[in-house]
Amino acid sequence: MASWIDVARATDIPPGHAARVEVDGVPIAIFNVEGDFYALDDTCSHAEASLSEGDLDPDRCAIECPLHGSCFDLRTGEPLTLPAVEPVRVHHVEVDADGVLRVALAEDAA
Ligand code: FES
Repeated sequence: MASWIDVARATDIPPGHAARVEVDGVPIAIFNVEGDFYALDDTCSHAEASLSEGDLDPDRCAIECPLHGSCFDLRTGEPLTLPAVEPVRVHHVEVDADGVLRVALAEDAA
């Protein structure tokens, strides 16, 4: 597995919020859905929009792209609505015992 990188304190991203970080040069969007964290590629698979700037939908556990409105499932990265048809990658994220958010890139990440 890729190595874990400290990216923020968990308290920096309260429930219902998102943040954009870089891990090994890869822009990653981190979302907090009612205390559960998810990490996806920040760049939408449709064009160049930043998913961390989209609208979070906690009920569907999804993020809506701010540019053309595709929704992506935060658990799988799969698009739920058009125009995007390709998934975004989902990365590993955890909170350590000291409250630090750590991310490990998915195996296929650049
Ligand atoms: S850039 Fe995200 S749906 Fe088009």
